[in-house]
Amino acid sequence: MTHSKEFFRRKTLEMILADAESEQYKLKKSLTAVDLVALGLGAIIGTGIFVLAGVAAAEKSGPSIVLSFILAGLACAFAAISYAELASMFPIAGSTYNYAYIAMGEFIAWIIGWDLILEYVLALPAIALGWSSYFTNLLSSLGVNIPGWATHSSLQGSGGLINIPAIGILIIIAILNYIGAKETATINNIGVAFKVFVVLFFIFVGISHVRPVNWQPFMPYGWKGVFKGAAIVFFAYMGFDAVSTAAEETKNPAKDMPIGILGSLGISTLLYIAVSAILTGVVSYGELKDTAPVAKALGLIGLNWAQGLVSLGAIIAITTVLLVMFYGATRIIFAISRDGLLPPTFSKVHPKFRTPAFSIYLIMIVTTLAAGFLPIDIIAELVNMGTMFALIITSAAVIVLRYKQPELPRNFKAPGVPLTPILAIFFILLLMLSLSWQTWVRFIVWFVIGLFIYFGYGRYHSILAKLKEYQ
Ligand code: ALA
Repeated sequence: MTHSKEFFRRKTLEMILADAESEQYKLKKSLTAVDLVALGLGAIIGTGIFVLAGVAAAEKSGPSIVLSFILAGLACAFAAISYAELASMFPIAGSTYNYAYIAMGEFIAWIIGWDLILEYVLALPAIALGWSSYFTNLLSSLGVNIPGWATHSSLQGSGGLINIPAIGILIIIAILNYIGAKETATINNIGVAFKVFVVLFFIFVGISHVRPVNWQPFMPYGWKGVFKGAAIVFFAYMGFDAVSTAAEETKNPAKDMPIGILGSLGISTLLYIAVSAILTGVVSYGELKDTAPVAKALGLIGLNWAQGLVSLGAIIAITTVLLVMFYGATRIIFAISRDGLLPPTFSKVHPKFRTPAFSIYLIMIVTTLAAGFLPIDIIAELVNMGTMFALIITSAAVIVLRYKQPELPRNFKAPGVPLTPILAIFFILLLMLSLSWQTWVRFIVWFVIGLFIYFGYGRYHSILAKLKEYQ
């Protein structure tokens, strides 16, 4: 077989649906549009708004962090419209990786799968670091102080050595995944209700303490700063794609998927705009350089009593995000290994718990090492790069599929194709170019490793390689 044939061998929609059918447990179609919006909010609102908004305001965009949130939200919204079309066409888990396998063939699918591993696995330590900050804050508001060396990584300076709470929460989440404890819609809904309440609480308590002078200068680092800030707070929107993984369990995916994806994205955008405007309005943006900026802002305006409540809300918010992301990471690796592009050990299911035990161990080891020793901004930038790349491929897949397979049923047709996906690609490219060159280098290194794996292993072991028509 020639190389090019291998690169472009594609799965068909029937193959993908058969994978879904053969799953151990047939899922009940019980989720409604409201459940999907809640699922999205459960995966979206977390470390991004509670931690990175402060970091980005202090170091990149100042009070114009509000514009950064609008910009990143806009880029995600355009991409989300494409996502909704694909999710309503292919009601299966596995997301972008499978879309690419159908639309663009195996090589691009591998590239995107390898990219999704980076995105999902590395998001975990970044999110866990946010959890650790608010956990430490909550304990200290209760009078229990953990020493600084145990709550900061050595690369952060300030006497840090290892982040023990971040490691601890990741181990707990890994164990929950190992024994197959799945968050139910009810638990998720309660968690989401609480976190939205805490965010609204911050907005209402904070608003009367806003001093407009804090918004001056509005753009201390100019438009460049706005873009750089947007490229960081992009992290806060990550997770809206999690809604698409519930397509198989949705009563009426054609109608409910777009509502779920765009609804959760819209609500979080509004909340983020309000929180970031108030955060930079109550204190000077320079003060927000803190690991728990929302709690710190409340402390600085003398509302110590409110700090504990907000910290508790942040902990609950971030825990729900961790659960969804950890599960997502195992599912991506599982799907790629089932297709033969990674060794079968990764998709071997534990005989009792029916979970991919080896992948869970591996994810736990990698994420605890990263969370223990690396600072949050380095990890978050790399995760964002990976996510942005995935969204670009998703948007491109919509255009390619409309052109190549116009006959496939599209329950939800994204409006304005090809303009909408092109706008998504344009905005996201702008954000990618605003990330640091070090992040680009790390991203490229990751891809080179991926190429070695594909050429050394995947292309020979792919299940498609065993099919007659591809030999
Ligand atoms: N959007 C998620 C968060 O901010 C990943 O924690």
